[in-house]
Amino acid sequence: MSDTKYSPIACDLEKDKKYNWCTCSHSENQPFCDGSHRAAKATPPLTFEVEEAKEVYLCTCKKTSNPPYCDGSHKN
Ligand code: FES
Repeated sequence: MSDTKYSPIACDLEKDKKYNWCTCSHSENQPFCDGSHRAAKATPPLTFEVEEAKEVYLCTCKKTSNPPYCDGSHKN
């Protein structure tokens, strides 16, 4: 599998806003949920927020041990 396809996506997140990170890989709006998990009968999104506005690297390979953040697992 190509490293690029599963590389993390840098996202500027806003303080106290709720984000839905896609856990199922079906979303066309990675790394966020677009509702596709319902039709796919797949796992629901992980809802999270950050305590201060910041740029983060969100996992797209879905193998991270620290969801929704990239932990480098896509390189394994
Ligand atoms: S589309 Fe993947 S969790 Fe919703």
